[in-house]
Amino acid sequence: MLCDLAHSYRASAVSERLPIAVLVSGTGTNLQALLDTVHGHEAEVVAVASSRGDAPALERAASRGIPTAVFARADYPDRGARDEALGAWVQASGARLVVLAGYMELLGEDFLGRFPDAVINVHPSLLPAFPGLGAVEQALAYGVKVFGVTVHFVDGGIDTGAVILQSSLELPGAEDPAEVLAALRPLEHSLLPRAVRLFAAGGLQPASDRDRRGRGIGSPQCPPRAI
Ligand code: GRF
Repeated sequence: MLCDLAHSYRASAVSERLPIAVLVSGTGTNLQALLDTVHGHEAEVVAVASSRGDAPALERAASRGIPTAVFARADYPDRGARDEALGAWVQASGARLVVLAGYMELLGEDFLGRFPDAVINVHPSLLPAFPGLGAVEQALAYGVKVFGVTVHFVDGGIDTGAVILQSSLELPGAEDPAEVLAALRPLEHSLLPRAVRLFAAGGLQPASDRDRRGRGIGSPQCPPRAI
């Protein structure tokens, strides 16, 4: 199965790169992971939008010649107006997948409706445990010994969309949120490009086609060879 998927990745790379938009709010290490792996191969990052003008992620994009824009919530009368402007800009970029990589804002129906089954997010917990802000702090307060990362489809809720990929890490003695986040970063940087590759290869079953117990990776797991 895995060999077939690898074959599909190569096939998609030579035929067509998946245009993706990345939404950010901060440092952008996940954006960097995408730029260092799938960008120019299975995918092409065609747009980077930030909710903050001072996000270092913007510089990472600009240094690769990728168009950037800032859509700060405070610059719009309400979230709907922000979503409309952001959605129109991302759509005009031609992106067929939107990746939330440390994007710290909720997106409403106006935005999500433009990209059905094509918005994914990376979250630093094993969802459905510890959604929302401060996931690692929540996990530490609960006393968990196993931490993790989830890549999931985005729906209208807070980290409630269908799970695509997860990875876990045992840290039985952890106390410091910064230390846990640092330990989780490599997992995020590996999982997010993997999810993009799967999407590019047509190997993800649309979230709307399956119930919550379904598999994040579509069934059958390997897409047809001719992509
Ligand atoms: C990551 O921990 C991600 O899981 C969370 O926000 C953080 C973003 O980090 N949603 P970066 O900006 O990609 O470095």
